[in-house]
Amino acid sequence: MIKIAPTPPISFSGEVPGDKSISHRALILSALASGESVIEGLLHSADTDATWACLLALGAGLEEDSPGRVRVTGVASHLTSPKGTLEAANSGTTARLLLGVLAQAGLYASLDGDESLRLRPMRRVMEPLGQMGARITALARDGRLPLKIQPAALHGADLQTDVASAQVKSALLLAALGAEGPTAVDLPRPSRDHTERMLRHFGVTVTSAVDGAGHELVALTGPQTLLADGAIVVPGDPSTAAFLWAAAAVTGGRAEVHGVCLNERRIGFLRLLADMGVTVEISADQIGLEPVGRVVVSGRPTRHGEVSRADVVDLIDELPLLACVMAIAPGVSRVEGAEELRVKESDRIAAMGQGLRALGVACAESPGGWRIEGGRRIGSAELDPCGDHRVAMALSVLAMAGAKESTLLGDRLWEVSYPTFVEQMQLAGGRLQEA
Ligand code: S3P
Repeated sequence: MIKIAPTPPISFSGEVPGDKSISHRALILSALASGESVIEGLLHSADTDATWACLLALGAGLEEDSPGRVRVTGVASHLTSPKGTLEAANSGTTARLLLGVLAQAGLYASLDGDESLRLRPMRRVMEPLGQMGARITALARDGRLPLKIQPAALHGADLQTDVASAQVKSALLLAALGAEGPTAVDLPRPSRDHTERMLRHFGVTVTSAVDGAGHELVALTGPQTLLADGAIVVPGDPSTAAFLWAAAAVTGGRAEVHGVCLNERRIGFLRLLADMGVTVEISADQIGLEPVGRVVVSGRPTRHGEVSRADVVDLIDELPLLACVMAIAPGVSRVEGAEELRVKESDRIAAMGQGLRALGVACAESPGGWRIEGGRRIGSAELDPCGDHRVAMALSVLAMAGAKESTLLGDRLWEVSYPTFVEQMQLAGGRLQEA
């Protein structure tokens, strides 16, 4: 539980922890490769720790040399059958990416998750993997964890999926590594491409293109092996920095974040903040595996914002936060086409709708988003984050602009993705206190 008191304009300058999506992939691909990799700037959080533990159970060697610097001894595609159930905890990325790996690994395994992950859809990965010959069965409810994986010889396939999900795309590419022949995946629109970038770093040939209809087409011909190639540097997580940027927008302060990942598919939130009149300065420093740079966000929004279906993928994890900025912005803001939010760590449309209304914001839910009347006085409340780390952090940020002290329920939910959330917010002047 934390108490959040009205906060004057925040001021932050520094780095944020490593990118969560890239950390998962760095661990998984290094573990599959032949040879030794060093990962620098790895995120340590409950989600990435779940991936770490699963990979250890599958035979990879993982050792932390110093904080954030990890040495991985890969298994050269030869994973060993895990003794117990692989636990993905709260992490959808762990579960879905590992499903792709396990489908082609030729071993027996069981995969499970916590209460929230057990509710999330896995069929979107299981079905296309089934078309490649994978043998995956749901042990309890159809299409949900826990799942049982059995050995199977996979073949390449032409696959289509109707969700623009990087987790699904990545799972299928990881399965295609061990399948015989070409696999092509057609997704309704481009999503984050961290897996493709990192596969190339490990010497894998993978192609990607966008067709005339805006679909993303990725292809990989298996079998292919991964060769370790020195160090992987994980940049700062823009989805984590977004909490500081939003706190700046909500309190009328300033947040400068260095060394943050600027992958085009991850910075839709910054585009929306700028559309809403918040000052956003982006300077790209370097392009390695990923574009990286410095971002300064300052001042309050001056106008309402509009998000439509085409924008959603590039700010999927930041939509709860954007709803908070919309609550501050003058005028009526709208988010549409974000039905995917209903199957995240919680039903984020409902959870945020409830939290915003508790803080006195006029917010109406639709199947794919919200209509938010912004610019009114923010109140104070006892806030229920519905067990969801991003909802918890987003509501805390909005509560900083409240008239009186609010209380956020839940047990250190931010440890799932941003373990230093409270410390960094306090450093920025945020009046948050663990109670
Ligand atoms: C992620 C992709 C997104 C995102 C999640 C992380 C990834 O999920 O919401 O937090 O690392 O690939 P979907 O691919 O299901 O949209």
